[in-house]
Amino acid sequence: MAKVTVPRGTRDVLPAEWRARHRVLDAARRRFEAAGYGRIMTPTFEHTEVFARGAGETSDIVTKEMYTFADRSDRSLTLRPEGTAGVVRAYIEHGMHREPQPVKLWYFAPMFRYEKPQEGRYREHWQIGAEAFGSEHPAVDAELIALLAGLYREIRVPNVRLRLNSIGDAESRRDYREVLVSYLRSHEAELDDDTRARIDTNPLRAFDSKVARTRELMADAPKITDHLDAGSREHFDALRGLLDAAGVAYDVDPTLVRGLDYYTRTVFEFTCSDLGAQDAVGGGGRYDELVGTLGGPATPAVGFGCGIERLLLAMAAGGVDGDTRGATVDAYVCVEDETERAAAFVLVEQLRAAGLAVQQDLAGRSMKGQLKQAAKLGTHAAIVASAGGWTLHTLRRREEQPFDPAAANAVATVTAIARPQD
Ligand code: HAM
Repeated sequence: MAKVTVPRGTRDVLPAEWRARHRVLDAARRRFEAAGYGRIMTPTFEHTEVFARGAGETSDIVTKEMYTFADRSDRSLTLRPEGTAGVVRAYIEHGMHREPQPVKLWYFAPMFRYEKPQEGRYREHWQIGAEAFGSEHPAVDAELIALLAGLYREIRVPNVRLRLNSIGDAESRRDYREVLVSYLRSHEAELDDDTRARIDTNPLRAFDSKVARTRELMADAPKITDHLDAGSREHFDALRGLLDAAGVAYDVDPTLVRGLDYYTRTVFEFTCSDLGAQDAVGGGGRYDELVGTLGGPATPAVGFGCGIERLLLAMAAGGVDGDTRGATVDAYVCVEDETERAAAFVLVEQLRAAGLAVQQDLAGRSMKGQLKQAAKLGTHAAIVASAGGWTLHTLRRREEQPFDPAAANAVATVTAIARPQD
């Protein structure tokens, strides 16, 4: 029979990778919770309309990339392609607008997009994300950006650059859109097919084109920054002032538009120059109309998502070792004679109950092999359960002493050797 493999664009995360993943996740969790963000988990699938209305009917995500299926009752459901729409749905459904604002939430969740797989781009990827609802103050945008920049610094993602733009409110964007559409129409013959097909549905995406001639044309295209409404301009200036004051470096990029339809005002993207084509390690922005679009009361909001796989690739490219923790095994219990197995097993349980990280021989290795394994794991203490009398070894010092597993101070004796610093 042919070998069974993972579906294209998906991957297994093996224990070696989890060490680095945990480090990133622990840092994110500490950082967001300390700043008042509570964790939220929404379902992996939602009614299709949540994402169709949420991400926008003209976005690539909705038109080309969703994993949509009918369940056995013929409901149309979709695997979450991005985190924001589901969190907005939950905010409305749980009446969170009645809580003191802003309501600040964070998540770590898998996303599913039917994209062409390549390094750093998968059909299932995981995002660490945060969303803040109920305040249009630029300090919220600044807080989120600074938190994310701080996370990259803490986990040492190398060569990170922050691009920042404002795409204005809905009205100024409508005006700008007309200007842009007429520019694109006047150069229609020179545009690539994808961009031409989107002139009416999503003209802003022309700035994302990878086609050389289109890029040249877009460099000269009218920019949204020259068409901002006064409120958005003020908001953008205030945001920049806060980032400047906090020493968060950024480049204003008037061509940054991002691929989702829900953004208003602030948009931003962090890139890492050590990555290849898929260099965005995180991105987000303001979406002041989405809560209303999904049926809630008008509520301003802002957030970001960052792909953990790309963070790990960037850390690896920068030579950052994801695992900075030392020994993860405090004690190792070796069994020389099977007659001692039950007593050894009980000791393992007692040591674990006392909070030690303990492993035991489960492979039937020779005594020499077991002690070698204990040393390989970086263990300080090894207990040898032998019918002729048990011993406790301080591996670092190559010392051993008789040991009685039934003694009242047995756990304390092992702990003193296993964790010499305690
Ligand atoms: P996004 O830019 O589509 O935004 O995705 C956020 C991040 O997820 C990207 O910067 C990248 O690091 C990672 N990512 C996206 N697609 C893939 C993929 N196929 N494979 C690996 N990593 C990927 C959003 O999803 C918005 N929901 C962000 C947001 C939250 N905006 C406001 N609030």
